[in-house]
Formats: sequence, C-alpha cells, structure tokens
Amino acid sequence: MSDLQFKRHRRLRRTPFMRDLVRENHLRMDDFIYPLFVVEGEKTRNPVSSMPGVEQISLDYLPQEVDELLSLGIKAILLFGVPNDKDSVGTGAYHTHGIVQEATRVIKKHAPEMLVVADTCLCEYTDHGHCGVVANGDVLNDESLELLVKSAVSQAEAGADIIAPSNMMDGFVIAIRQGLDEAGYRHIPIMSYAVKYASAFYGPFRDAADSTPQFGDRKTYQMDPANRLEALREAQSDVEEGADFLIVKPGLPYMDIMRDVRNEFNLPVVAYNVSGEYSMVKAAAQNGWIDEKAIVLEMLTGFKRAGADLIITYFAKDVAKYLQG
Ligand code: PBG
Repeated sequence: MSDLQFKRHRRLRRTPFMRDLVRENHLRMDDFIYPLFVVEGEKTRNPVSSMPGVEQISLDYLPQEVDELLSLGIKAILLFGVPNDKDSVGTGAYHTHGIVQEATRVIKKHAPEMLVVADTCLCEYTDHGHCGVVANGDVLNDESLELLVKSAVSQAEAGADIIAPSNMMDGFVIAIRQGLDEAGYRHIPIMSYAVKYASAFYGPFRDAADSTPQFGDRKTYQMDPANRLEALREAQSDVEEGADFLIVKPGLPYMDIMRDVRNEFNLPVVAYNVSGEYSMVKAAAQNGWIDEKAIVLEMLTGFKRAGADLIITYFAKDVAKYLQG
C-alpha cells in the first residue's frame, strides 16, 4: 500500500440527520421580500401571463392579500404601481394620491406590522417608459433626481417603511437621503438597487408593470453585464452616500457579484431573483421538465451561499408552503 491517504468526505453525508447537522446555509421566511403589483380600479386580480401565479391586484383586494402573506410568514413586500395615466415626467410616481401611495396607506392601516418597501422609479409612470426625464433622446440625470426625491418623500409620507430606489441615476442615494432627512424621515432606511445590470431577465416584469421603454433601452443607466469591477464602484458610492441595504440584480447570473459585494461591504446584501428567472422555472415546471420545488429551494439556497442576506423573490409564497410542508 502506498502511504498516500485520501479524505473521507462522505462521513458527514451518511444520514439525513447528519446532513442537517453540518448544513451551512438555510432559508428562513424572515429573509424574504415579496413583490406586489398594484393596479387602479377595483375587484381586479389580473393574472400576468408571462409570470404564472403573479397578479396585478387592485387596492380593495390588498387587505386579504396581506392577510394571506402574513399567514405564510412573509413580513415584507416590495410595491410596484401600475397607474392608468402616464405622462412625460411620471407625475403618478410622486402624486400624494398615486397608486403606490394609496396602496401603502391601505396596507399600513390594515396591517401596521407589515414592512412596506416602496420601489422608487419613474418607468411605470412615464409615457416613454424610461426611469428618468427624457430630452432629445437622452435620460437626464440631475433633472430626474429631483423627481425621484419627490417620489421617495411622498412614499414615506404615505407610510412606507423602506425606500428602494431602482432608477440607476447617479447620486440617487444621497439625493434621496437628503430629501428624506429634510422632510423629517431620518429614520427611514434606503434599500439601494446599488448594482443593477441592463438585463434581458427583466422582460416579464415589464409586462407585469407595463414599463417597457418606448424607444431605445436602459443601457445608458443600467450596467453592462460583462462588468465586475464596475459593480464594486457602484456599491462603494452607494455606501458612501448612505445606503442601508445593497441590492444586486438580477440574481442567478450574478452570484459572483453578490459574493464580491458581500466580501467588500458590511451592509445587508439583497439578492433580487428577477422576473425572467421566475418565469423560466415556472415554464419548465409546467412542461414537467423539472422538479419545481427542488429547483426553487436549490436556487434560493444558492443566493444565501453566494452571500445574500435577504432575497426579493416572486417565489416567496411557494417557499413558505415548502418550508411549512
Ligand atoms: C424598475 C424596475 C425593474 C425591475 C424592478 N424595478 C425593471 C427595469 O429596470 O426595467 C425588474 C424586476 C424584475 O424583472 O423582476 N426600474
């Protein structure tokens, strides 16, 4: 016999209890944020055809929806508004009676403990579908900041617990921080979409939120999927500007970036498991090609292993049922 020894890794995999004992990462309902799309009108639950199981919900149905989420152990929701009227400057995003502001009031009145995270962006509210103000085909940075600050302040006024700016204008964190502080909302944290790539994985979301750009694309403000160092620069500036959470988006193809951000910074890191990632799994599952439950749990556990503390996912309700079962 040679004196070369090999290691017996299988000792720790022998039985289910043994595997439970040495498992490094876990999914907990406390870590999930569930996105909700709110529409105007009443008695409406519009299924989003490209996202099976996801609906646009009218205000009057929000209390029952929130009760269901709470009963599943979901403690935070991310609100997106789908307004009837759009204009060139996205007035609906910062109107006192805008759809997200009204939805926030309804939810906080019904269930004050539910954490409302308000997505702060203009794309659902502008007729051109871009995340800022447009002039001569350009998305203007500093001019857009003013409107984003107004949106964030009106969301806080309505009772939002966390402001989540997703617009990718430079300086949005510091602008919104100052705006919130001046308006008396020093205690409201900012969950920044710090690292957001210009991704084809947002396709189904744009059906759900009716926010497809009417010309061009978002590549002058969202990041190039080929870049890694740029993600650290984006995250760094948001940390310096006062962000309280750092989102990395999308999730699956960017787990390396999640790990980089986790290693470099000490704020909570949030993975956004986006619409395209959801729809791919649902489509394959509907065809009987994959085991949906196993795939979803493996994918979400992968985010935790990659360093995410929190996960924004359309699968949150499914996971609650899997974990309960
Ligand atoms: C708004 C916004 C988008 C998403 C979240 N906030 C779309 C986009 O940037 O085009 C995408 C979420 C998803 O795909 O699930 N700017």
